[in-house]
Amino acid sequence: MTDHTDTAAANQPLKGHTGAPLWLLAELTYRCPLQCAYCSNPLDFASAKEELTTDEWVDVLTQARAMGSVQMGFSGGEPLVRQDLEILVAEARRLGFYTNLITSALGLDEARILALREAGLDHIQISLQASDPDVAAAVAGSRKAHEKKLAMARAVKAAGYPMVLNVVLHRHNIDQLEAIIALCDELGADAVELANCQLYGWAHLNRAGLLPSRAQLEAAEATTQRWREKLASQGRDMRLLFVVPDYYAERPKACMGGWGSIFMTVAPDGSVLPCHSARMLPMTFPSVREQPLREIWYDSEPFNRYRGDGWMQEPCRSCDERHRDVGGCRCQAYLLTGDPAATDPVCELSPNHHLIEAARREAADDGRTLEELTLRNVHESRVFCRT
Ligand code: SF4
Ligand code: FES
Repeated sequence: MTDHTDTAAANQPLKGHTGAPLWLLAELTYRCPLQCAYCSNPLDFASAKEELTTDEWVDVLTQARAMGSVQMGFSGGEPLVRQDLEILVAEARRLGFYTNLITSALGLDEARILALREAGLDHIQISLQASDPDVAAAVAGSRKAHEKKLAMARAVKAAGYPMVLNVVLHRHNIDQLEAIIALCDELGADAVELANCQLYGWAHLNRAGLLPSRAQLEAAEATTQRWREKLASQGRDMRLLFVVPDYYAERPKACMGGWGSIFMTVAPDGSVLPCHSARMLPMTFPSVREQPLREIWYDSEPFNRYRGDGWMQEPCRSCDERHRDVGGCRCQAYLLTGDPAATDPVCELSPNHHLIEAARREAADDGRTLEELTLRNVHESRVFCRT
């Protein structure tokens, strides 16, 4: 029997109970002025031209809130491309959401910062590509973006927002971590996510050219730890979160806290997904244009397929750790093995763990420069879409 309880305490999906989608990610658009080589958007993003209207988004927010969602992120693509962003933020706040804008800062200016503040936006997360303008330009495919981001980070801080800076780390910028953290400190960040690149979407396409070496990773962790101590000795409250790449872990992450457990993404065209990468899985996801959100979350086949542990294969099925990491990431399992129900090969107990080791070797042999990576772009999106 489906239980539509909407409290966090009741959210225990692995015990056969589906709780509320506490976290809603609204991917307002796949449009974006940047072309990051590690973009997590689907390779065929250009084929998804349809976007929900303002009224449809308001309806999504209303339905999600009624189901017990409490926290939401506006993301994309670049959410600032949508001129109705302020309307949606105001509506989300009116409904009682805690709201977060996840942005490149392109499309932001002082007037929009003020408008978003008046709309009640709680929190802004800005992505930086690097501290070095040349590296930033090569990663994002834009020479002007870096300066603009720095200016907007200062403006966001001046407007009194709590500010998180997000820096995606990869082999071409990870050795500059000292300067990256110093820049974040100078910008007045309250927290910095030093997130080693997750290898989905365009990042998976560029995997061998992005994955750092173990030595790079260890040096970066040591730099982060030194900075934590330095900041603490100065009484400076800037949290540093270092996210290790899956490909160097011994066990997989409990992706999204478990499939259909607490996290729900609504894609620009209204498709509802258990994570932002799931679109590429060999399954069809329901749309808010066709079904109520509640029905999709609790009753649809795609959302129920990997809930609980009944779907697991060996070695997960009989593993004592299966409720801790839920067998890892379904998208990663599919990308690496072609089977979304397989044990995530990141796990050293997986019979496919050799694929991770092979990927590390392939990366070590890859001599591509930053400029030789494939940037996210409309033309190749169509090409990949056809294949
Ligand atoms: Fe987790 Fe499966 Fe590995 Fe066990 S075998 S640690 S459940 S991924
Ligand atoms: Fe899709 Fe992990 S990113 S389940």
